[in-house]
Amino acid sequence: MGQVTELLAEHAVADPYSHFADLREAASLHRDERLGAWLVLRYDDVRAAFRDSRLSADRVSPYFERRRMQGVAESERATCEVLTRWIVFTDPPRHTRLRKLVDYAFRPRAVERMRGWIASLADELVQELGDEDEFDFMERFANPLPVRVIGDLFGVPHENRIDLTRWSEDILTLVFGAMHSADRHQRAERSLMEFSEFLRGVIAERRVRPGEDLISDLVAAEERGDVLEEEEIVATCVLLLFAGHETTRNLLANGLKAILEHGGARETLLADPSAMPGAVEEILRFDGPTKAMWRQVVEPVEYGGQWMESGERVLLVQASANRDPRRFEAPETFDISRRANRHVGFGYSIHYCLGAAIARLEGALGLGAFLDRFPGVSLATDRFEWDSLILSRSLKRLPVRLG
Ligand code: HEM
Repeated sequence: MGQVTELLAEHAVADPYSHFADLREAASLHRDERLGAWLVLRYDDVRAAFRDSRLSADRVSPYFERRRMQGVAESERATCEVLTRWIVFTDPPRHTRLRKLVDYAFRPRAVERMRGWIASLADELVQELGDEDEFDFMERFANPLPVRVIGDLFGVPHENRIDLTRWSEDILTLVFGAMHSADRHQRAERSLMEFSEFLRGVIAERRVRPGEDLISDLVAAEERGDVLEEEEIVATCVLLLFAGHETTRNLLANGLKAILEHGGARETLLADPSAMPGAVEEILRFDGPTKAMWRQVVEPVEYGGQWMESGERVLLVQASANRDPRRFEAPETFDISRRANRHVGFGYSIHYCLGAAIARLEGALGLGAFLDRFPGVSLATDRFEWDSLILSRSLKRLPVRLG
């Protein structure tokens, strides 16, 4: 067995990459005693684990079971019902059925029609920034852009956008494991109920008057006579808000930080905007929004000589796999022209991110619009504070200076 680690230690949150590099060289598997979980760290093992059916994606049922045993179930009923319907927490054959139906709303034609909206939303935000000398990129650009994109995707009117942000942030505290927020269950529960109620109204309306939006597509999705039930559409929309907001926000913020910290990247992108898609892939590899994904062992399984037993929890550590020198040449170098960049930032295999194409568009168009408007932007600090989260690589703020 490898060394003992602690994922939420201050130094590991500030610089997970050095922390993981030391561990990864010693062994692929390690134990985090505080979390009571295994960590899988090497690229080949992380990929294999993503497609291993002995590792279940359903990590919420055991969690709610434990909470039920502690006698707190009643207050969490709505959360449990929605989360257990999330496609990302299901295994085949349930996953196969849901994915086929939901895929319909993410077919290339549907994604391509978003290009125009995303570009104009990014421009709109850049215009709102005016010519302020210094501001928080996270608050003013990275956070609002994905919510506005999802708002448009859902066809939600502007006056409800403020609620979308709050709902998403409340759900985040629950799912991404903020350890220090005592009222997180109640807040998440309340927001889930409000958002679900709101969605039921929108779904009813779209059944009568379908539009060119994702909720209309989910209502229309059909596969050999099978359709999504109302509560499945509700749960899917909640997941899309959650999955599409925080992650993309962090792609934009971590991305701008990486570009400005690495001499030459900004200049290359300003001179040749076609380099942007490659830069987005490198951001996902080098400092991507998700550090790790949970799995639950359902059959004893061995990786790197270490057995994991049924009932144990496992973290597939993408932030480590993406810097594994066994797979990537000079993994510590941020290189926007890197070739064959097969990072696992969007996961791998059957749960591969459904929104990857949208996230890539948002990353490229958002960062492109921002750099185009503010080519002289610089970081206003060299001290960064990161949220103390297990799964998410998330800056608290990103102060930037113009001119
Ligand atoms: C840069 C931004 C994003 C990153 C880094 C990201 C990352 C991921 C990862 C790692 C997974 C796999 C989860 C697992 O294996 O347990 C995933 C799944 C998923 N993502 Fe994303 N995501 C991003 C943006 C989005 C967006 C914009 C949407 C939707 C609008 C979205 C929707 C989903 C959905 C629905 C799944 C579940 C797919 C399934 O279980 O079959 N994501 N994402």
